[in-house]
Amino acid sequence: MVASTLPIGILVSGRGSNMEAIAAAIEAGEVPARIQAVISDRPEARALELARERGLKAFCLAPGEYPSRQAYDLALATALKKEGVELVALAGFMRLLGREFLEQFPGAVINIHPALLPAFPGLNAQRQALEYGVKVSGCTVHFVDAGMDTGPIIAQAVVPVRNDDTPETLAARILAEEHRLYPRVIKWLAEGRVELRGRRVIVRS
Ligand code: GRF
Repeated sequence: MVASTLPIGILVSGRGSNMEAIAAAIEAGEVPARIQAVISDRPEARALELARERGLKAFCLAPGEYPSRQAYDLALATALKKEGVELVALAGFMRLLGREFLEQFPGAVINIHPALLPAFPGLNAQRQALEYGVKVSGCTVHFVDAGMDTGPIIAQAVVPVRNDDTPETLAARILAEEHRLYPRVIKWLAEGRVELRGRRVIVRS
């Protein structure tokens, strides 16, 4: 019997290392999902090239070609629906998604952020953490709501902050954890083990 797999879409804007980690985990048979499409808001995103090299369907939808943010969000949701996507994973996607988008995928949009939310949301999270002086940081996978990195937290991984860290060395240590955590969360979701109770997310074993 062929077990069912969850059809996912990945939204990217840049480097694409999390997209690669997810794709590699799926290819290794560790995550019962399949990537239906990788979509970027930037045509030059390296993630698009990397996805195509893996034989994935990858294309750009450029916001500048739409009259409003709402129109873009709707076009993006429509494109994902057309590909049969049931879970949307943001992986370095540098835009906020509005209600027009989120209403199309209720409880089915997730993001990874390179800090222990609710600390250090937004841009340059690793630099924010270092400058604040925290002793541990890490990454967070969360459901996406209309705010900036404010949705219910699904999972977090912690790394130490070292005395000689720069934003770059801390980011690299966090990124290694991102690449482990994001595929694992997608696995849980694909297995139907994740339940939202208010703001709390319960992962059944
Ligand atoms: C990651 O640090 C992720 O946490 C943040 O953006 C970065 C994307 O990196 N949201 P990549 O494109 O996956 O390499």
